Amino acid sequence: MRMNYFYQQMLAFFAVVMTVLIILGFSFLQFARNTAYQSTEKQLFGYAESLIDVDLQTEKIENGQIILKNQGVSIFVFDYKDDMIYPSTTKKYVSGISDGDLNKLKNGEPLTLSQRSTDFFGNQVDTAIVYQPFFTQSTGEFSGFIAVSAPISTIEASLKDIRNNLFSAFVFSLIGATIASYLFAKFQVSRINRIRSATHKVAKGDFNVQLENREMDEFDDLAADFNSMVDSLKKSQEEIERQENRRRQFMADAAHEMRTPLTTINGLLEGIEHDMIPENQKQRSIQLMQNETRRLIRLVNENLDYEKIRSNQIILQKQTFNAYEVLEMIVEQLEVKANESGNELILDCPTDLLVFADYDRFSQIIVNIIQNAIQFTDNGKISITGYSDENESIIKIKDSGIGMSAEEVESIWERYYKADVSRKNTKYGESGLGLAIVQQLVTLHGASVTVESLPGEGTTFTLSFPFE
Ligand SMILES: Nc1ncnc2c1ncn2[C@@H]1O[C@H](COP(=O)(O)OP(=O)(O)OP(=O)(O)O)[C@@H](O)[C@H]1O
Ligand SMILES: [Mg+2]
Repeated sequence: MRMNYFYQQMLAFFAVVMTVLIILGFSFLQFARNTAYQSTEKQLFGYAESLIDVDLQTEKIENGQIILKNQGVSIFVFDYKDDMIYPSTTKKYVSGISDGDLNKLKNGEPLTLSQRSTDFFGNQVDTAIVYQPFFTQSTGEFSGFIAVSAPISTIEASLKDIRNNLFSAFVFSLIGATIASYLFAKFQVSRINRIRSATHKVAKGDFNVQLENREMDEFDDLAADFNSMVDSLKKSQEEIERQENRRRQFMADAAHEMRTPLTTINGLLEGIEHDMIPENQKQRSIQLMQNETRRLIRLVNENLDYEKIRSNQIILQKQTFNAYEVLEMIVEQLEVKANESGNELILDCPTDLLVFADYDRFSQIIVNIIQNAIQFTDNGKISITGYSDENESIIKIKDSGIGMSAEEVESIWERYYKADVSRKNTKYGESGLGLAIVQQLVTLHGASVTVESLPGEGTTFTLSFPFE
């Protein structure tokens, strides 16, 4: 069964208010009734006592009866045998009280207010009545008792007023409670609806929604939780967009990188097909195609490598080994290439310099950086300096090449980034992946790499590998 929260709230609040009112009303009514009966009892005893006060005289009783008649109060006197002696009648009447009650009276105990539905003459009338014993003054002997009665209707009449007043109060409270519960329910529901409409907005993709939080109650806690949920949704959404852009960029870059060698190969193949390449150029063409194919293979391999490193698929076999020997070997290998462009490679490193790294990956990092230095330097000097301080081995690769501007330096770690796209220096293929891989490897090692560069002056890469 569906019931709007608004009505649930209203009903609950209303029920509470009503229950309280009913309980209070009934208790008050009960209290009023008790008070009314108690005061009647006190009054009736007062009359009885004033009649017995000194002596019991018929004249006094008659006068009293006359005065009290219009209040509905009746006085009866019975002798010690329970026979009515006032009012005097021809017929014999008795009070009809039990023997136990008569004994109590004999012992001097008055009988407190009781109710009966007939008077002593047998007439149907609801009366409240008290009994007070009296004794012979000289002997102190029980000589009879006085019964003073009042009709219940007079007591109830005074209660009726109270009841009427209470009823109007009840009706007013009912209206008040309805209005209060309506307002209360409306307020609560409006707070829920606020969260609901915010949720709808988020569902539609608006992650800028924030709810006001007055830190008052659980609704505000909910609002706070909602806000932090939206915050993290927003962050994930941004991350998804960022990843998606990266993926798109990567696809575009990869396709772009592959197009150049494929176009070259395709052109050469078409030339061969249509016999448009002179015989003496054929060997050169084949070599060109081979170069381009190798470049493609390298591109694919480097991409795979990069992805592997990035997704933590490679495990480093770190060990401490002699860095000097590795550097010397690399310098020897790259010297030919360096000399081709008039560059001088200088190694300045203590022969006992140790480094804690993965042997192959360390070589890969150094080769990449030196290759770049050779690539972007003509007729200059490239120095490789190794040393160690307290906690780490440091290797600096400094060239006197073209250098980079500050903005260029910021971007060199990005995949496929090349500072000058138009530059067609194919000494090492130039796919823009080298430094991206270097950075991944360095991070994986827990090492660090920094770059200082000035356009036209040269570039220095500094690597620090922490000791074991
Ligand atoms: N020593 C350097 N001097 C000047 N520019 C450099 C130097 N090293 C890197 N760069 C700049 O950073 C860019 C990125 O270098 P990276 O090694 O990642 O790519 P690449 O050398 O162009 O291609 P790859 O290394 O994949 O063959 C280079 O294209 C170049 O613009
Ligand atoms: Mg490079």
